Amino acid sequence: MNKITIHNNIIQRINPNIYGHFIEEIGECIHDGLWVESQKLKHLPTLSKPLEGVRQDLFEAVKPLFGAENPPLLRWPGGCYSDTYHWKDGIGPKENRPVKPNTHWNSGFFRTIKNQYGTAGPRITHQFGTDEFAAFCRMLGASPYINVNYGSGTPEEAANWVEYCNGGDDTEWGKKRAEVSPTPYDVKYWGIGNEIWAKWERGFEKRAKDYAARYLAYARAMRDKDPTIKMIACGLDPATANPLLFARDGNTWNTTLLEIAGEFIDYISLHAYFPMYYHFFKGFLLKFAFKRDSKFSHNEKYFKASMAASQFLEQIICRVWDQIEGVMGKDTSVRLALDEWNAWYCLHQMIKANSCLMDGLFVADTLLLFQKYSNRVSIANVAQMINCVGLIRTDEQGLVETPGYLAFKLLRNFCFSRLLETSVTAGSFYNEKVVSVPVTRTPLISSTATMSEDGKEISVVLINKDYNNSIDVELDFVDFDTQRMRVKQAFQLYHDNPFIENTPDQRTAVSVQPPKEETISANKVRLPKHSLTLVQFQENKERQ
Ligand code: AHR
Repeated sequence: MNKITIHNNIIQRINPNIYGHFIEEIGECIHDGLWVESQKLKHLPTLSKPLEGVRQDLFEAVKPLFGAENPPLLRWPGGCYSDTYHWKDGIGPKENRPVKPNTHWNSGFFRTIKNQYGTAGPRITHQFGTDEFAAFCRMLGASPYINVNYGSGTPEEAANWVEYCNGGDDTEWGKKRAEVSPTPYDVKYWGIGNEIWAKWERGFEKRAKDYAARYLAYARAMRDKDPTIKMIACGLDPATANPLLFARDGNTWNTTLLEIAGEFIDYISLHAYFPMYYHFFKGFLLKFAFKRDSKFSHNEKYFKASMAASQFLEQIICRVWDQIEGVMGKDTSVRLALDEWNAWYCLHQMIKANSCLMDGLFVADTLLLFQKYSNRVSIANVAQMINCVGLIRTDEQGLVETPGYLAFKLLRNFCFSRLLETSVTAGSFYNEKVVSVPVTRTPLISSTATMSEDGKEISVVLINKDYNNSIDVELDFVDFDTQRMRVKQAFQLYHDNPFIENTPDQRTAVSVQPPKEETISANKVRLPKHSLTLVQFQENKERQ
């Protein structure tokens, strides 16, 4: 019998910052995704100044991803791009801002990445700069997270950026910002460099000790301007470090960094893209770089690997966590920031991507993992919000809400903040090794249960990872007054085809629907094959 046992025991409060997002000057993420630049999009209704380039429909779609209560973080301006970005290019009157080539995504190997939508590195007009980013965050209620330029910038440039955002009008740069916004932007989260251990990154460091030394110069200069800021350092999974592509000391990168600069580190960042992660050199590079679309992953083998990936990510989290505790001690306040994560198959998906139901299940499964680990992973940013491996895909007529978007929105809005103790009794499956995802035994059902603050409602999320079969699950509520519990509402993301995509021609080919009534009761749920189900229970006033 398949069973989810849900105990009336709160094991932790879920940090809302696990539901964060990320935008970058890459492909059509900001350029023509968030911010209308091309003539072909000028007919679209947009927000008013200073966000006159933000399409209205996009803003409406993004709002529920952040949620009404405790909106999470939005990371900007990169990604790799941040290590080439000079923030002063993006302030002041918009007509005076320089137009420059995208020095990361339009150079070297990355220049070859193209598809029918354009290139990975369109030119930068700097219309969406710090003031626009801060205004956008304000409208969403999101906490801004800025990644400073380590690659081609200086500690002084980064410190001045902190002053511009957070300083009073009695400081040089705070005064400049006050011309636009008398209220400081209060940017709490600051990343220093991006993937600085990678050979493709501007500012690549061969050794952790070199990064740590320069990191300290940045951190000290930035904290001098605002001692309350939180700082995020580039970390790396020690077991997947690849010496052909990465720093020489990948397996001790985090520990060296923490030993030298730990006092100035609030978060160690990790990036996790599946299935490719960073194993490009195992015959995957060509596929990854040049396959025309992601359809080569539309088969049972990939499906199973994708459903096993969260277990691999769990191992990574635990490995890095052990390193953090090893250096900083058990009562450390340092946490993990999974500030880029998603399913990603082909390089050109960074221009404009679509994703399928399988990817939507992957998104949901990863969020469940973060719910369970939010005492270690206290920041996570899905990569990216728009077009680039994106949750939302834009076009001239409208938007496509991908299954990843639908799954994300569902969990963000209907899971509660208090995580309950649960256990799953279910069958399992083995996947074949796919790129980075090793052969793993994975339970067929992934699940969490969360409780509302007043204790009167419970949301149970259930992912059926079985490729072919539906599953009947019993819900066993332990130490609850089950006589008083009734199903308040239920939602399902399902389609007979696990690789179905929403497209400009079929925008709602797959959507969230209420499940068939006869499949849900207070203690039993039928989960269709390869599906996501969320059931919300409510305490009934009257005994039944
Ligand atoms: O999200 C796209 C890119 O992937 C980011 O710029 C980089 O950090 C990562 O490798």
